[in-house]
Amino acid sequence: MTKAEKDLLNSFDSIIYKIKYEPDIALILGSGLGNFADNIEDKTIIEYKDIPDFPVSTVSGHEGRYIVGKLFDKKIIVMQGRVHYYEGYPMDKVVMPVRLMKLLGAKTLILTNAAGGINESFYPGTLMAIKDHITSFVPSPLIGENPGTLGVRFPDMSTVYDKELIRLLHDISNEMCIELKDGVYLQTTGPNYETPAEINMYKALGADAVGMSTACEAMAANHMGMKIAGISCITNMAAGISKTALNHEEVKETADKISENFSGLVKEFIKRIK
Ligand code: HPA
Repeated sequence: MTKAEKDLLNSFDSIIYKIKYEPDIALILGSGLGNFADNIEDKTIIEYKDIPDFPVSTVSGHEGRYIVGKLFDKKIIVMQGRVHYYEGYPMDKVVMPVRLMKLLGAKTLILTNAAGGINESFYPGTLMAIKDHITSFVPSPLIGENPGTLGVRFPDMSTVYDKELIRLLHDISNEMCIELKDGVYLQTTGPNYETPAEINMYKALGADAVGMSTACEAMAANHMGMKIAGISCITNMAAGISKTALNHEEVKETADKISENFSGLVKEFIKRIK
């Protein structure tokens, strides 16, 4: 058994007896969805710091806990706070929380995040369904010995984001009159924002939005055979496209402003996922 598998099983053993429901849907809350967990009923809260071998988020404003419970008739596990590569954890640790949600039973993963807009038709507050991603600038979370229990050594990544789920997101956003764009998300290591020259390069490579998370989680989840949907909240235009300096406060402010729409969309999405 690999060290990654041992850590995962250790974490699994420490929480499986605490949760009342085997979750079907996993949701990672990015900026702007921090209060989403208030919607969950009959919840069990598990702090990351109480789980052995588990990475703990160090970013201010990012809580670190799982919430397991029910939303509508769906059994759901929510991550309130994620760990980022820039916090210093190796990539396999960064994706461990996602792997654990799959082990606990979740078959569908909904990823949300805040991102910088590269596509000039976007504006701060745009919501974007992730149709594909670029992870070439961060290490793969699948590097190292492959625990065969998780997935195959050389996983296909040609359809990471489920087309039916994207269609459902668009149906819902149309019905709710919430604008939803489609785009390619590019993950950087962070924690620094990008330079204008880097953003030009990412644009030339086909990226519509840039951020410091998510794609590695999607890769690990795809490796394990989960169905994946991703939604980015464009909180700012990326460096150089925006003429002003970027800062985390602006990101949080825009995320808060859009949170009602974002939250409404995700709620209805969960309600209608098969
Ligand atoms: N770059 C990277 N990550 C981000 C940004 C950005 O402009 N905005 C929100 N997260």
